[in-house]
Amino acid sequence: MVNKSKMKKLNVKIGKMVLRNPVTALSGTFGYAEEMKDFVDISRLGAIVTKSVTLNPRNGNPTPRIVETPSGMLNSIGLENKGLKDFIQNKIPFLEKLRTNVVVSIAGFSIQEFEKLTERLSEYNCVSAIELNLSCPNVIHGKKTTAKRLIAQDEVAVNKVVSRVRKKTKLTIITKLTPNVTDIKKIAKAAENAGSDAISLINTIFGISVDAYSRKANLANTVGGLSGPAIKPVALYFVHQAYQAVKIPIIGSGGIMSAEDAIEFMLCGATAVGLGTANFINPAVATNVIDGIMHYAKTNRIKNINNLIGRIITD
Ligand SMILES: Cc1cc2nc3c(=O)[nH]c(=O)nc-3n(C[C@H](O)[C@H](O)[C@H](O)COP(=O)(O)O)c2cc1C
Repeated sequence: MVNKSKMKKLNVKIGKMVLRNPVTALSGTFGYAEEMKDFVDISRLGAIVTKSVTLNPRNGNPTPRIVETPSGMLNSIGLENKGLKDFIQNKIPFLEKLRTNVVVSIAGFSIQEFEKLTERLSEYNCVSAIELNLSCPNVIHGKKTTAKRLIAQDEVAVNKVVSRVRKKTKLTIITKLTPNVTDIKKIAKAAENAGSDAISLINTIFGISVDAYSRKANLANTVGGLSGPAIKPVALYFVHQAYQAVKIPIIGSGGIMSAEDAIEFMLCGATAVGLGTANFINPAVATNVIDGIMHYAKTNRIKNINNLIGRIITD
């Protein structure tokens, strides 16, 4: 049995939010929290991030849109959700009851949509932060033929969106970035310079799964986003790179399944960590990871979990 009084040593800060521990649930893998309430004690998490909300309802991409891959999965959900109006009417009432930080992930198809979503959501006291999903690999921004398909692949676009949204809210802004770039430092810096309070990375990596016999792509959309343990080394690399470029906190994610994985992300520079695909295997994984971090801190005499951030030994 873990002594909960020790949890104060696990506090971390993301913008204005104080997280009771560094463990968060990632967008798109924890629903709107209500779906998870019977499986996990949500109040123990540092924060939860909702499925990305768009201004208007979206059906998402055609099915099949999930396929298992070695040590991971590919998804091409395409931001299926019922839109802002439904979110406010039907999701906010449950989120208001939560005793943890609620981060609402938003995805816009224009700067004005990002602004509108931010303005409306900032009216609700239960919303602690807005996460800007600039990195969904399953939604194309601009012409398909252009090389830059995601907002988070273009530092000028990142700067524009974040600085416009910054003017619309006093809430903590987290910018969710993609690993589908050559130089994450440039992109992370653009988010920081535009006033983002934190960055979250990594979103999924572009991938394809094919059936050799039918010769067909296994996803109706052909291309999807890869997540799960298969992407962990890539994610650690991106967090390590971003940590060298920015001063704002990083929420690190990509394949985290255990407390040790979470600690590795913190050593590479993450202030907090996100659990995604792991929730599909065990919806209570977050509490296991929190207990594991507490155990690690105790057995390794870590007085303050913040002392681990960026302390990877490289020589
Ligand atoms: C089924 C599925 C749906 C997702 N939907 C979203 C989403 O709506 N918004 C978002 O920012 N990220 C979304 N993601 C990405 C995750 O939040 C996370 O960044 C990614 O899966 C990497 O973490 P993981 O390896 O722990 O899953 C989704 C991931 C999966 C697997």
